[in-house]
Amino acid sequence: MTILAASPAAIAQAAALLREGKLVAFPTETVYGLGADATNDRAVAAIYAAKGRPQFNPLIAHVAEARDLDDLIVWNDAARLLAEHFWPGPLTLVLPRRADSPVALLASAGLDTLAVRIPAHPVALELLRATGRPVVAPSANASGKLSPTTPAHVAESLSDNVELILAGGKCAVGVESTVLDLTTPRPTILRPGAITREMLERQLSRVFEATHDDASPKSPGMMASHYAPHLPLRLEATTVAPDEALLAFGPDVFVKGGATRLNLSPTGDLTEAASNLFAMLRQLDQLHFNGIAVMPIPALGLGIAINDRLQRAAAPRDAV
Ligand code: TXA
Ligand code: MG
Repeated sequence: MTILAASPAAIAQAAALLREGKLVAFPTETVYGLGADATNDRAVAAIYAAKGRPQFNPLIAHVAEARDLDDLIVWNDAARLLAEHFWPGPLTLVLPRRADSPVALLASAGLDTLAVRIPAHPVALELLRATGRPVVAPSANASGKLSPTTPAHVAESLSDNVELILAGGKCAVGVESTVLDLTTPRPTILRPGAITREMLERQLSRVFEATHDDASPKSPGMMASHYAPHLPLRLEATTVAPDEALLAFGPDVFVKGGATRLNLSPTGDLTEAASNLFAMLRQLDQLHFNGIAVMPIPALGLGIAINDRLQRAAAPRDAV
């Protein structure tokens, strides 16, 4: 791990690392972010590994210009209005993902929506322009630790798991961005932040706050809109029936030929498995089978988040 003052040369180096799939921490006006190329499945999986989160929380894709979002999300009038008014700034908008969005499915944690924002920090904006791709960035802290507002905080929390920290001083806002869900007719604040409800209501007539029952910013995995496969899942499978598709893991796959199968990671690499999880579930779900048998995944590191997601997907539907 290296810490570099955010000179033009350091920003160019950081952008090159991001394009290679490495993780780079960078300053925004709210908190430091742990960035990865949003279009690189492996890099996005590495973020979850670095943060040591037991669950796949959906991530925010950061861009430098509103037009950079045209390929990623479906705009609506409220989003255009708020983007014009508050961006760059500490406001994150949750919008429908475009079906052909190049952003990794894992970044949305299986949702059909994507959170996006333009940060108001010159280093972040220069880095995003130099990278030329959307960058997902959760707060650059290990799971359960405070969000970092200085480069030293990042180094303490994530030292082994980040290639480069771009140092750009102390974050001016110090708390994470406001997260506003614009995917329903009622614009709803999922996470409060520096852009307040009152400020939003000066642009949109009415803005709501998430209650405990609906959205749940704390546990987005429980959201009703969370993607669940149509086919039933059977976990810890050590056999596969003729009418089942197989989601395999590791080198020791017990069926040869015959059964339709996809392997999350033939080498048993959990980061690779995480990067393939949502895409492979979706792929198998489209086929004409009566169920998906899933081989055991070790409950270590990223395997804990993978198992968490699989258990949710396998749970009885009215409990999801
Ligand atoms: O200020 C910030 O937003 C910082 C800086 C680095 O930009 N980033 C940040 O990311 O706080 P993170 O991953 O720590 O928090 C993202 C929040 C979480 O509460 C997550 O549940 C929510 O945004 N979120 C992301 N995508 C979502 C989606 N598709 N639907 C609902 N909530 C989403
Ligand atoms: Mg966070």
